[in-house]
Amino acid sequence: MEHFAVVQSIIRAAMSGDRGALTKQVSRLRERLEKDGAAKDAATLERLLASVEEAREMAPSRVETSRIQVRGEKLTPEIHPPIDRETGARLCMIDFGENAPAAPIHGAAVQGAVDGLLQEWGNAAALQSVGVAPTRSVLIYGPPGSGKTVTAHYIAQSLRLPLITARIDGLISSFLGTTARNIANLFDFANRYACVLLLDEFDALAKLRDDQQEVGEIKRVVNTLLQNLDLRREHGITIAITNHDRLLDPAVWRRFETHLYIGEPEVGAREQLIARFLRPVRAEAPILRIFAYCLTGSSGADLERLCSAVKRNLALAGETHDGPGLFRSLSAVLSRAPDHTHLPKKILALDPEAFVSLITSDVDFAMKQADISEATGYGQSKVSELKKAKRHLALMEQSDAQ
Ligand SMILES: Nc1ncnc2c1ncn2[C@@H]1O[C@H](COP(=O)(O)OP(=O)(O)OP(=O)(O)O)[C@@H](O)[C@H]1O
Ligand SMILES: [Mg+2]
Repeated sequence: MEHFAVVQSIIRAAMSGDRGALTKQVSRLRERLEKDGAAKDAATLERLLASVEEAREMAPSRVETSRIQVRGEKLTPEIHPPIDRETGARLCMIDFGENAPAAPIHGAAVQGAVDGLLQEWGNAAALQSVGVAPTRSVLIYGPPGSGKTVTAHYIAQSLRLPLITARIDGLISSFLGTTARNIANLFDFANRYACVLLLDEFDALAKLRDDQQEVGEIKRVVNTLLQNLDLRREHGITIAITNHDRLLDPAVWRRFETHLYIGEPEVGAREQLIARFLRPVRAEAPILRIFAYCLTGSSGADLERLCSAVKRNLALAGETHDGPGLFRSLSAVLSRAPDHTHLPKKILALDPEAFVSLITSDVDFAMKQADISEATGYGQSKVSELKKAKRHLALMEQSDAQ
C-alpha cells in the first residue's frame, strides 16, 4: 500500500492521543497525495482538517450539564454581582460564555490534564459510586501569556457553567476592614449559584502578606480568604491562577487539590498556535515547522503578537500569501528588534540566507532540501549552495564572543 508509512504514523499519533502529531501526520498525507496528483483526495483531507479544527474552536462543550453535580441556583444575566460598599465597584465579572475565546491549544500533557478534569466533572455520579468526588479546586500556574486565563474560560464553557471572575487586587479595598467583607460577599455570591469561580492574579494575595503595614489586619484578610476557600469545597468548582508560583506559601498550595502548570508551548502546540494566528493566511507544514523552530521559547501570547505583525508586513509589503511570503515577513518583523536571545531567531533577523544554512545543517531539524526550498522561496540549487557555505557559523561565533 502506498503511503503506508504515513498511515502508520497517523495510527500511532491517534492511539497515543497526541492531537498535534495527528494533525501533522494527516497534513503529511495530504501533501503526499497532492504530489501524486490525487488532488481530489488531498482536497478532501484538507477540508476534513479545517472542519475538525473549526469544530474544536467553536464547540468545546463536551461535558453534559445534567451529569455535572454542581449545586446552586441558576445564575442569569439579570442578577447583579456584589459590589464594594465603599466605592461601588463590582467585585467580580460574570461570563456566560457568549464571548468565550477559542479553545486553547496545549501539548499532550496539559491537554490530558484538562480533559481529565472535565471527565471527572462529567462523571461525578460514577465517582460517587466508589466514594470519591471530582476535583473541586485547581491552581493553574505558569509564565505570562501561556493561556492560563483562556484555559479557565474553556473549562467553564465546557462544563456549561457561568464563570465568575474576581481579581484579588480588585477585592482589596483601600479600607482594609472592607476587604475581608468583600471576600466574604464574593464567596457567598459564588456559593449561592451554580458556577465556576475564578480567582485570577492570585499572587496579589502573597504580595499583600509581604506588605509590612497593618500586619494584624492583613493576616485577618488572608485568613478570611483561606477559610472561604475551605468552605467553598462543599459548593462548587474554584480555579485560581498565578504566574508567580514562588510567591504563594504552602498554606495556599494545600487549599488546591490539583496544581496545573502551563508553560511555554512545545513544538507541536506551537505549530498549531501559529497556524491559528496566521489565519486567514494558510501556512503549509514546512513553513509552520520553520516558524515553530525559530520561535522556540515564545509564549502563546508572544506568538499571537508576532503572527499579527507578520500578517501586517505581508499585507503592506505586498508579499505573496505563501511560504516564501511568510518567511520573508517573519525575517522582516524579527529584524526590527534583532537583539534576540534564541539564536535561530537572531540569525533569521540578521540574515535569512544564513538561517537557511543553519536549518540545512541542523540534523535534529531534519527537513528535506525540497521542503526548505518550497517554504523559503530559495531554489533548490541555492539551498544546496547555502548548506555548503555554512553562513550561519560566522553569526554564531559572533554571538558566542558577545
Ligand atoms: N495555549 C494557548 N492557546 C490558545 N491561545 C493562547 C494560548 N496561550 C496564549 N494564547 C493567546 O494569548 C492571549 C493571552 O492568553 P491568556 O490571557 O490566557 O494568558 P495568561 O497565561 O492568562 O497570561 P497572564 O499570566 O499574563 O495573565 C490569549 O488571548 C490567546 O489569544
Ligand atoms: Mg491571565
